[in-house]
Amino acid sequence: MSGAKKLYIKTYGCQMNVYDSERMAEAMGSAGYVETDTPDDADMILLNTCHIREKAAEKVYSELGRFRPLKDARPDLKIGVAGCVAQAEGDEIMRRQPLVDLVVGPQSYHRLPQLEAQTRTGARALDTDFPLDDKFEALKTRGPKASRGPTAFLTVQEGCDKFCAFCVVPYTRGAEASRPAARILDEARELVDRGVREITLLGQNVNAYHGAGPEGSDWSLARLIWALDAIDGLERIRFTTSHPNDMADDLIEAHGTCAKLMPYLHLPVQSGSDRILKRMNRKHTAESYLRLIERIRAARPDILMSGDFIVGFPEETEDDFQATMDLIEEVKYGYAYSFKYSTRPGTPAAERAQLDEDVKTDRLHRLQARITHHQRAIQDAMVGRTLGVLFEKPGRLPGQMVGKSDYLHAVHVADCPLQPGDLARVEITESGSNSLAGRLVSPSGA
Ligand code: SAH
Ligand code: SF4
Ligand code: F3S
Repeated sequence: MSGAKKLYIKTYGCQMNVYDSERMAEAMGSAGYVETDTPDDADMILLNTCHIREKAAEKVYSELGRFRPLKDARPDLKIGVAGCVAQAEGDEIMRRQPLVDLVVGPQSYHRLPQLEAQTRTGARALDTDFPLDDKFEALKTRGPKASRGPTAFLTVQEGCDKFCAFCVVPYTRGAEASRPAARILDEARELVDRGVREITLLGQNVNAYHGAGPEGSDWSLARLIWALDAIDGLERIRFTTSHPNDMADDLIEAHGTCAKLMPYLHLPVQSGSDRILKRMNRKHTAESYLRLIERIRAARPDILMSGDFIVGFPEETEDDFQATMDLIEEVKYGYAYSFKYSTRPGTPAAERAQLDEDVKTDRLHRLQARITHHQRAIQDAMVGRTLGVLFEKPGRLPGQMVGKSDYLHAVHVADCPLQPGDLARVEITESGSNSLAGRLVSPSGA
């Protein structure tokens, strides 16, 4: 019997791509492939790509170039491009890079085994359809029942109808669609059976979730979270990414009443200037965002806020930028992701007059310095508190274990008798550059 073929997947971009890569690996499992962690011995290389910023897309072409020697040495090696660059530039990838055998978009990857079979006949294969059939239905269960780590992503909603003026997602992922609640619950139970203790529900606009409920009417994200809350063995629930305009009352309330829902919320705002928010087509103001956070904090006072920011959007003045800095000062984010505006072909903002790169760089540095200051202060303030920690893996030192706190900070515990998947109370004793350290208070669980 010849050995299994090997698949190497490299994942870029957001958590939804991480989830999709897992699903693609499972789909290819049924075509006789096992995953490998190096391209060197792979029979197939798959890049799961991101198109959100210019640099992210360019990385794909340079990475592909690096596979030439491998392909020269082993002409049977198949090279595929999946994800959002595949969706946006599939034809161009085929033209620009003859090395590529296969291109598959984020909505058609359940057809990967057929596409791979096509490449075995010497043909090149491209599929960037938005098919009407539900890819998750086609993929059904999550493959072999191997046990797995204690945390997992679970996509519940995909696509976006919001069309922010800077963003490619509505074009690469298509229209908003929610998976039926019963399928999500089945998948969650299966993950829990395989050792998962924490599930992060994913969607480009996850709080816009409105999937069909078992009795016909649509469920909100809060309703789904409450149904997940009832699953024994599932200890923690998170969700990302949310849009401020979809933060419904029942979801805000759940943050105060659902013990399994963790006190962490990623709520991107992009800018603190109403003029820029309007030009971004965000459909909310800085004030409405701040009032929303007040309501969320009223429900869950200790919630840790996280956000996304874009600096140097077309026409952003120093005053606009200051308004963003003021908003940051008011919210005090525990985490934040910030980016220089990057022109994306086909989006409305790409047509507008662009700011100098130096201005963008300068603003990004100033913004990140402020964010880092708050992030650090919030992390340091954990010292002396006792927090829930879900242990994920051994640390670098012998006997050490690493896990994540309720607020998503990495926590190290020395001489720790616990296993990955154990949840315990930990008293935080130290705050380092990127993580906390502490000692067990209740070694037998939380
Ligand atoms: N759906 C989420 C975000 C998806 S994209 C939301 O609405 O918030 C993730 C982040 O990438 C965005 O929040 C934004 O900060 C950033 N981003 C998107 N397009 C960008 C662009 N053209 N240039 C720079 N950053 C961008
Ligand atoms: Fe992009 Fe805006 Fe949709 Fe978020 S809400 S995915 S930023 S278009
Ligand atoms: Fe990137 Fe696509 Fe996610 S563009 S951020 S991989 S939805």
